[in-house]
Amino acid sequence: MTAVHSPTAADSGASASANFRSTAREGLAVSPERVSTVVTAVLHAVHSAIREHDVTYLEFQAAKRWLMDLGEGGEWPLFLDVFVEHVVEEVAARTQDGTKGSILGPYYLPDQVSLPSVCTLPRRPDEQGDPLTFSGRVTDLAGRPLAGAELDIWHADAEGYYSGFAPGIPAGNLRGVVTTDAGGRFEITTVQPAPYQIPTDGPTGRLIDAAGWHPWRPAHLHLVVRAPGHRPITTQLYFAGGEYVDSDVAEAVKPELVLTPSGQRVSYDFVLEPA
Ligand code: DHB
Ligand code: FE
Repeated sequence: MTAVHSPTAADSGASASANFRSTAREGLAVSPERVSTVVTAVLHAVHSAIREHDVTYLEFQAAKRWLMDLGEGGEWPLFLDVFVEHVVEEVAARTQDGTKGSILGPYYLPDQVSLPSVCTLPRRPDEQGDPLTFSGRVTDLAGRPLAGAELDIWHADAEGYYSGFAPGIPAGNLRGVVTTDAGGRFEITTVQPAPYQIPTDGPTGRLIDAAGWHPWRPAHLHLVVRAPGHRPITTQLYFAGGEYVDSDVAEAVKPELVLTPSGQRVSYDFVLEPA
């Protein structure tokens, strides 16, 4: 193994925060009316929870301390992507046709290596995990193949860790941008990812533990699929029968996104709508 030490929440949290700051769009102009409407609704929901459950001063202080820790640990991206993003995606999906979307999560990195339609994702010489071949097609809503579509794919390793966030994994490991062939086809060889555990040693992990929940996401492949003139789709694919498929802590599984493996092969056809 190349890992120098076990990944910690602070490693992943700090990397996820820095990554978010460097990639997220800034300067969104929001009207005062919109700010007031949404923030008032959020605050009312908090006020209602306090009234409904007789929240005490001691509990209020514990919550304040925990929120301070969450910020200082850089865990806002982890926390929001696990507990909130799925509803933002649900709202975005109301206007989306074609392949179902799912959450982006905190571990997307742009500008990964370009790969041909039949390819193997970059991996360590001693990469652990069962082989996995993922194939399929990208089409438009009418079923016409989209040649030259890009599948930007990334996933955790056989220990559930992501390159670029956990220490000791080479940059770009198990990440790549695959281009479809003239028939819109692709075939990607990689390794089976493990389920992902929310880091348990940081504030998000402490909350999950304090509430008696479990900290797991089912094994998944992340994808952003794009083609010129089409609306890009951000999604994830899961494996039927895998652990936590029915109890994802991030509530990001949709039945349409669960693959049924045949041996070490899975396949999925993506459908993109016009931009
Ligand atoms: C988180 C991690 C993931 O791999 C994912 O897909 C979604 C959320 C997280 O730690 O917040
Ligand atoms: Fe993930």
